[in-house]
Amino acid sequence: MKVETLRWFNNRLEMIDQRILPAAFEYLSYYSAASVAEGIRSMVVRGAPAIGVAAAYGVALEALRLQDKSADEFNAGMETGFTVLAASRPTAVNLFWALQRMRKAWEGMATQAPQQIAQSLLAEAHEVLAEDIRINKVMGGYGAALLKDGARVLTHCNAGALATAGWGTALGVFRSAVEAGKKISVIADETRPFLQGARLTAWEMVQENIPVTLITDNMAGYMMSQGEVDAVVVGTDRVAANGDVANKIGTYMVAVLAKRHNIPFYVACPLSTIDLTISSGKDIPIEERSVDEVKGFRDTHWAAEGVKIRNPSFDVTPAELVTGLITEKGVVLQPDVEKLRKLFA
Ligand code: MRU
Repeated sequence: MKVETLRWFNNRLEMIDQRILPAAFEYLSYYSAASVAEGIRSMVVRGAPAIGVAAAYGVALEALRLQDKSADEFNAGMETGFTVLAASRPTAVNLFWALQRMRKAWEGMATQAPQQIAQSLLAEAHEVLAEDIRINKVMGGYGAALLKDGARVLTHCNAGALATAGWGTALGVFRSAVEAGKKISVIADETRPFLQGARLTAWEMVQENIPVTLITDNMAGYMMSQGEVDAVVVGTDRVAANGDVANKIGTYMVAVLAKRHNIPFYVACPLSTIDLTISSGKDIPIEERSVDEVKGFRDTHWAAEGVKIRNPSFDVTPAELVTGLITEKGVVLQPDVEKLRKLFA
């Protein structure tokens, strides 16, 4: 089954509402930068590459919405659109990467009429989407080669088709391995508090008959100690110039456990997720989300009333714990500053 996380349909953007999966499968429609920003903020769409693609369409939608205005009004409205989109979520660098790409495209046609600009920006957004799927498939091939036939692979959060325009980064590696004829099985961490593992990764793997076992996050160490995990593959929201990896909260814990048990820890990472402007993971902004997510789930609250709650949504795994970054230019073993710079040379 092909999952179209985002699609252009009847002159508007449609995105699967990931907040209600897997209980319901529904598309929501978007017509402006502000509505797309709200879709990103509220997690209708999530996952670093998918957020980037959504932002690219947000810019294009804003241009289409303003295309009949004067050039001055168009330019002012577009600037507001960029600002609103940039404020939607802070950690995934793909958001800023996509906005920069759209801005560059816009600057390259600044003398054209708004209608022409809008059409060209829409074409650029389509290209961002198509490119993301192409890149995931290339990364999938490199990653699949790292997994032996029969491998039992643990993943955290959802770095699948739902977190990208399609195929996925970490789950893309599993899809490519299966396509190459390898029998692999997946262990999905539940991923508290938003349950991306239980709700989204489990759903994606079940849809495709890729064997998957769900565990709660605190079972990972036990599974490793029992010799039941051969490798870990996760996605990422931002990789600093020294190879430090920001990903969903709990990833650091998994990486430490993997090191303790001598299990390779791989990060599937398109170049659009590498931020060379940030020297180490210390400078990566970590989003703190609503405490309601920790209090309970949806309308059910189980935490004691009045208790203080924290909800950092991401953590940073130091480069020294990363066996390799799987990129569209190949696998970078033991990533460091020089190796990452070379990728962009
Ligand atoms: O808060 P989310 O669901 O947007 O967090 C997603 C993750 O942490 C993913 O692992 C990451 O974005 C990589 S997705 C290919």
